[in-house]
Amino acid sequence: MQSSEEGDDPMPKDDEELKTKKDRYKVLALLGKGGYGAVYSVLRLSDMEKFAIKCENASAARKALYMDCNVLKGAAQIKSRHFCTVIDQAAVKDRFNFIVMKLIGKNLWDLRMDTPECRFSLGTALKAAAQCLVSIEQLHRFGYLHRDIKPGNFAAGRKESNEHHTIFMLDFGLCREFVKRGEGKLRTQRATAPFRGTTRYAPLNSMLEADTGRKDDIESWLYMVVEWTSGGLPWRKLKAGDRDKVLQFKKDLRTKEEMQEDMFYNCPKKEFFRILKYTDSLDFYSTPDYKFVYYCIQHAAAANKIKDSDPLDWDQNSPYIGPIEPPGDGKVIELDVEGVMSIEGSLNKTRKERETKRRAKKEEDKESEKNHTKKMDVRKEDEKKKGKKDAASKKSNN
Ligand SMILES: Nc1ncnc2c1ncn2[C@@H]1O[C@H](COP(=O)(O)OP(=O)(O)O)[C@@H](O)[C@H]1O
Ligand SMILES: [Mg+2]
Repeated sequence: MQSSEEGDDPMPKDDEELKTKKDRYKVLALLGKGGYGAVYSVLRLSDMEKFAIKCENASAARKALYMDCNVLKGAAQIKSRHFCTVIDQAAVKDRFNFIVMKLIGKNLWDLRMDTPECRFSLGTALKAAAQCLVSIEQLHRFGYLHRDIKPGNFAAGRKESNEHHTIFMLDFGLCREFVKRGEGKLRTQRATAPFRGTTRYAPLNSMLEADTGRKDDIESWLYMVVEWTSGGLPWRKLKAGDRDKVLQFKKDLRTKEEMQEDMFYNCPKKEFFRILKYTDSLDFYSTPDYKFVYYCIQHAAAANKIKDSDPLDWDQNSPYIGPIEPPGDGKVIELDVEGVMSIEGSLNKTRKERETKRRAKKEEDKESEKNHTKKMDVRKEDEKKKGKKDAASKKSNN
């Protein structure tokens, strides 16, 4: 039997023209490929401006693109410079759904691989670390955990738009809301949670199949930053399938000094280890002190005589002009959830589902309103009775 995989691939072809309600786009080049879809650069034909499209197979079981779209919409509300804006979206029937967003440059994995020793200079690692931390705090601020923090999910902007010193956060397919919208409360920790993410950077909790919180994103961030600085994590040779062995490495890191030496080789050990101990001291519900983590990074920079203007490894001949800003305090803000986008085609189902859910909730609210009124009535009755009792007891006391 012969398979014709090539012919069956639903993803866009080179030079293919894609139509949306607003515009037409010509596919230029493949930028990245994942299990459920791919990212391409495209040309907007109305003004010849370049963008990126992220496509998801129409038959993908997990609608990760829907999450990408929602999160980026949330990011647009806080006007962060670390997230791409989504400008358009559509579906090609029975093939793929796609979103159109700002085009950025190389991801941080590729940028590290471009360096001669496959590691960033300490200055570059720390500047990138600080920007990524800020983006994580912002994502948390509008109520989402990333759950797949890794170098391939961050990229520098494009030189053409003078954003090549700014780092963007990407890939929200595994995000999870950790707040109950409208209630201002955190969701309750689940007893267990299936493993999601990438073995190499996964936090201990996620490897133990525990539900993860904000501090776990910071743990992954630290593994990423150590890899940038040292050139490789002690468990770099292990494959995704060796989860148990990687887990043992991460456990040993907490208890064995020789493992700590190995891990933080070439790194500002004191500050990085302090961050690890700090994240370990937090739990699922904690709001991390992002500013403290940022301060550790700044401290490592100062101790190593790194200046704000020191260039980045991918632009060695010009001084750093990227953002230098501390993160916020992580206080979760309410989002305008009504404004959330949906994509035509298969994702409309999700919108319908949302509508049904909203109606059900309205009904529920009405019901609880009724109960509340009932309760109020009962309470009034009780108060009346109590009043009588009090009056009676006052009488008897006197
Ligand atoms: N807006 C973009 N501009 C340029 N490149 C991008 C953009 N979005 C993603 N990429 C590239 O595509 C890769 C895969 O994208 P990502 O969103 O992480 O999807 P996946 O779910 O397949 O991991 C990224 O590592 C990055 O190199
Ligand atoms: Mg990715």
